[in-house]
Amino acid sequence: MTALAAEIGATAVSVVDAAKAGEIIIIAIPTKAVADLPRALFANVPSSVVVIDIGNYHPELRDGRIDAIDHGMLDSQWVAQQIGRPVIKAFNNILAKSLLEKGVPRGTKGRIALSVAGDSFDAKAAVLRLVDDLGFDPVDGGDLDDSWRQQPGMPAYCKDLEAAALRRALAEADRSRIAEYRAEQEARIADRRPRLAADASACPHLRAGR
Ligand SMILES: NC(=O)c1ccc[n+]([C@@H]2O[C@H](COP(=O)([O-])OP(=O)(O)OC[C@H]3O[C@@H](n4cnc5c(N)ncnc54)[C@H](OP(=O)(O)O)[C@@H]3O)[C@@H](O)[C@H]2O)c1
Repeated sequence: MTALAAEIGATAVSVVDAAKAGEIIIIAIPTKAVADLPRALFANVPSSVVVIDIGNYHPELRDGRIDAIDHGMLDSQWVAQQIGRPVIKAFNNILAKSLLEKGVPRGTKGRIALSVAGDSFDAKAAVLRLVDDLGFDPVDGGDLDDSWRQQPGMPAYCKDLEAAALRRALAEADRSRIAEYRAEQEARIADRRPRLAADASACPHLRAGR
């Protein structure tokens, strides 16, 4: 981790220190690992600090079954419950390669849009600004209770859409099909794994199966 941090201009710290490290904290670990985070991780972190959940629940491919989510809790609602703190859902529906390579200045034709869902107006506004700063058009994805619209397999999931198309895709999602969309997405990932593995050897930033 220290070597990777040096390569990308970051500083590697412990999980506990990472939670206290800034105004915006991004949880970027497998969903199942969220349950293993220290219990009081955010206890002394000011409430003004924004926590972003970029995770996606992949029960068959990686995370194992999480009953609460299987019974209707949304992915990010479960994460918020685990860490005892509200989260903003963002960046879960763009692949790492696009996030790394496809950001462009505001106003550029074809700029990819990213949706941001959450309950706090101020926290969501901070993340919408971050999306813009990183080179993507920010789109308000509603409250956290709307965040299913950007979960795995939904029409707005990892399609690198422009703002108008992303809004349409968010609107056309069907809540009754969350599990079905997720299963379809997992099947697509499983199907692509051999090709991704080959691509990953050519591009160190693209790792298989994500
Ligand atoms: N990759 C993408 O394109 C992409 C796009 C959107 C969303 N996501 C979602 O983002 C999340 C992370 O994905 P990823 O691709 O970054 O996964 P990853 O490459 O497997 O990285 C996971 C990271 O989490 C760390 N980790 C694992 N268990 C941990 C624990 N108990 N406590 C602290 N850290 C732990 C790992 O550390 P070690 O290496 O030390 O184990 C590793 O640094 C997933 O939910 C994924 O679905 C990924």
